[in-house]
Amino acid sequence: MDAKLQAVRAALPALSRAVYLNNGTTGPLPAPAAEAMAAALQEELTGGRTGEAYFRRTFGLAQELRQLLAAVLDAGPDAIALTGSTTEGVNIALWSLDWQPGDEVVSANTEHPGVLFPLFSLRDRRGVTVRLADLLEPGQDVVAALERLITPRTRLVAISHVAWSTGELYPVEEIAAMCRAHRVLLLVDGAQAAGVVPLRLRECGADFYALPGQKWLLGPEGTGALYVRAERLPEVRNTFAGYVSAQAWHRSGFLPHPGARRFEYGLRHPVSLAGLLAAVRWLRDEVGLPWAMERSHALAARLRRHLQAIPGVRVITPERHAALVSFQIPGVRPEEAVRALEERGFWVRSIDLPPAVRASCGFYNTEEEIDGLAEAVADIARGRGQR
Ligand SMILES: Cc1ncc(COP(=O)(O)O)c(C=O)c1O
Repeated sequence: MDAKLQAVRAALPALSRAVYLNNGTTGPLPAPAAEAMAAALQEELTGGRTGEAYFRRTFGLAQELRQLLAAVLDAGPDAIALTGSTTEGVNIALWSLDWQPGDEVVSANTEHPGVLFPLFSLRDRRGVTVRLADLLEPGQDVVAALERLITPRTRLVAISHVAWSTGELYPVEEIAAMCRAHRVLLLVDGAQAAGVVPLRLRECGADFYALPGQKWLLGPEGTGALYVRAERLPEVRNTFAGYVSAQAWHRSGFLPHPGARRFEYGLRHPVSLAGLLAAVRWLRDEVGLPWAMERSHALAARLRRHLQAIPGVRVITPERHAALVSFQIPGVRPEEAVRALEERGFWVRSIDLPPAVRASCGFYNTEEEIDGLAEAVADIARGRGQR
């Protein structure tokens, strides 16, 4: 194994437990993130959680994290709000708009509940019509499939950058151009892209982009961010409001912060902020994001190739993919396959729509691990797996 990969793996102790192929659910925590969290917790324990220095440090941590995420994702100044998850970001974005009964949203049946359920809430509470493109068959012309559902009442398209189910990488820039042409807003769920797909938020054309900290950015649970395009800020309203939302206030009102921070309302857990900050710094400075992204993609392509060569196995994930690879093993239910693979030391997960096994390839995986997974799948497919 080359020295760099060895060093990277040494900082991810969870890798010694099993072959970690479920980054798409939650990534392995890097040691520098765990150390930063331990130090922050110790500081709370012994230094107390009050006093000017404590609040300066805590607010400073939040600002450092907004700025780091903005730099890594090329979001521009003041365009990042800290959230607790992708789903929180999606909800904040959706509820920041003044919906009228009869307004329409276009999305897809491949979307995660983190997008679909907030849309269903909009439908049920505001009378918004939700139109879903059928993208279950991967490799379609996604732009055309979404555009077909746009009407003069459509106000927003909500779509993932990478579909959590099929693993398909959607052409966000082209979708954004189509949305602009129809004067429709674009909300992107970046849960399976942020940290693993090269991303320049300012250029990609999305109006809102929600992302998690705990998946490909390897931060702790309960962290995330929402990007809001600067031009949209005058049009949106505060979904939540509290002292962090304001740049100034008086007894009868407040002036929202000029940037996306207006969507934050209070302090986030400082220990978690310290963890995500350290994880992203480690990714940027020690691992190198371009190297990590290229490697994850190459490993996923390798896995796809191997799986496609196994008789009977159906690879769902199309050519245009990121780091997720979904597949079906004939005659074996996905949950059974996941169990059989776990018994052989591979951590993957099952998905429902379509029913399949999903492997997430991280930059820290070795080629041998990827080949080993394909061999285990071939073994299960031949009927020799433990059912
Ligand atoms: C595409 C997609 N969207 C949303 C989510 C939910 O993410 P979070 O737990 O950060 O809200 C996930 C993963 O769980 C996902 O894969």
